[in-house]
Amino acid sequence: MESNKKQLTLQLLMSVGTAVIGSLQFGYNTGVINAPQKIIETFYNETWHKRYSEYMLSTTLTTLWSVSVAIFSVGGIFGSFSVGLFLNRFGRRNSMLIVNVLAFIAAALMGFSKLAESWEMLIIGRFIVGLYSGLSTGFVPMYVGEIAPTSLRGALGTLHQLGIVTGILLAQVFGMKEIMGTPTMWPFLLGFTFIPALLQCALLPFCPESPRYLLINQNEEAKAKTVLKKLRGTDDVDADMQEMREESRQMMREKKVTIPELFRSSLYRQPIFIAIMLQLSQQFSGINAVFYFSTGIFEKAGVSEPVYATIGAGVVNTAFTVVSDQVKWMSYVSIVAIFSFVAFFEIGPGPIPWFIVAELFSQGPRPSAIAVAGFSNWFANFLVGMSFQYVEELTGPYVFIIFTILLLIFFVFTYFKVPETKGRTFEEISASFRSGAEKYTQDDLNALGADSQL
Ligand code: GLC
Repeated sequence: MESNKKQLTLQLLMSVGTAVIGSLQFGYNTGVINAPQKIIETFYNETWHKRYSEYMLSTTLTTLWSVSVAIFSVGGIFGSFSVGLFLNRFGRRNSMLIVNVLAFIAAALMGFSKLAESWEMLIIGRFIVGLYSGLSTGFVPMYVGEIAPTSLRGALGTLHQLGIVTGILLAQVFGMKEIMGTPTMWPFLLGFTFIPALLQCALLPFCPESPRYLLINQNEEAKAKTVLKKLRGTDDVDADMQEMREESRQMMREKKVTIPELFRSSLYRQPIFIAIMLQLSQQFSGINAVFYFSTGIFEKAGVSEPVYATIGAGVVNTAFTVVSDQVKWMSYVSIVAIFSFVAFFEIGPGPIPWFIVAELFSQGPRPSAIAVAGFSNWFANFLVGMSFQYVEELTGPYVFIIFTILLLIFFVFTYFKVPETKGRTFEEISASFRSGAEKYTQDDLNALGADSQL
């Protein structure tokens, strides 16, 4: 207990705090287009009118807005898939530093789109900040996991999600018409992304590179030790060094597993299936239908100040959305329902999928698994962002019944199929999958390493 307390040093807190600015950016850009939807749509329409001397068809506007929202996750798909290109080449800390270039470019494109009378700039900006966010969802949990002492890994890991949620909330608050949600101020609202990027660039040089990267990837034993001493606030880092050397040895034994191998090998098929399903359940809960579109949803539910209701909003429960159309006071109930839904989302399907993937796989298949999981998450995010408005047009408020049914399926799946990982080592977790696999091929045996016991 005493030694755990000592491990939470200022250097560690500052490094984690700086890293999760990346998560905050992701959240901010998830929530930022929600409140000013109407205002920016008006800008689209007026720009269109200036160019073509006619107003847009409402279907064109729906398409253009859906694209503006969902292109963010297309960027996320590419970003999350490219994480591997950066991490081992530049290191963890410098990767986080470099990708801020994307945040600056995106902020400029979005911030000046009104001045340039170009909704194309806004859409491209959303794509680029999506790239940044996709990369961050790979970098941040990995960096935090690697610098945290084992006893604090879970607690610090959830700070990624906390950063995301804080970003969403900040965007919703700034989006109020009293702050930046106005026809003249919305470019500042979108361009605000510039400020966290600047802050992160100023702070990252004071954060250490991951000691695990220094030792395992760079073979820089002395540097890794110096960094560890600073992070732990003690000269006695032998146990940590020992654990990292063990990880390094294991990594040499295990061969790197490619993405197709993940699906071919009976050893990995089950955990990768679980990892994908958890990402899908996070996104198909409908959480982002709300975070992207809740202002419009609340308006239809009869809430008089939808932007206020959007602040603090989460997932709208189907039943309450349906009945709130008919009964006036039900609009308040819908707000309460949303707050509690958010709370439950954040206890489970919010934070857990982001860090459970690393726990389900050992060092060899881990990078490929993280890429596949990130891709699944962002692809599902894209589907929700792109199709929500169309499905809503077809079904009305019953659109949330679809999410409810999906959630039920995911609930049953999680209950029966996902193993408990708490308090278990990576090795114990992967062993539980090994005993579940019925048949081993020669490839599987190779992947396990020569001295593995089946
Ligand atoms: C999770 C999701 C993200 C969502 C957020 C809401 O981090 O990955 O897409 O916006 O939760 O809190």
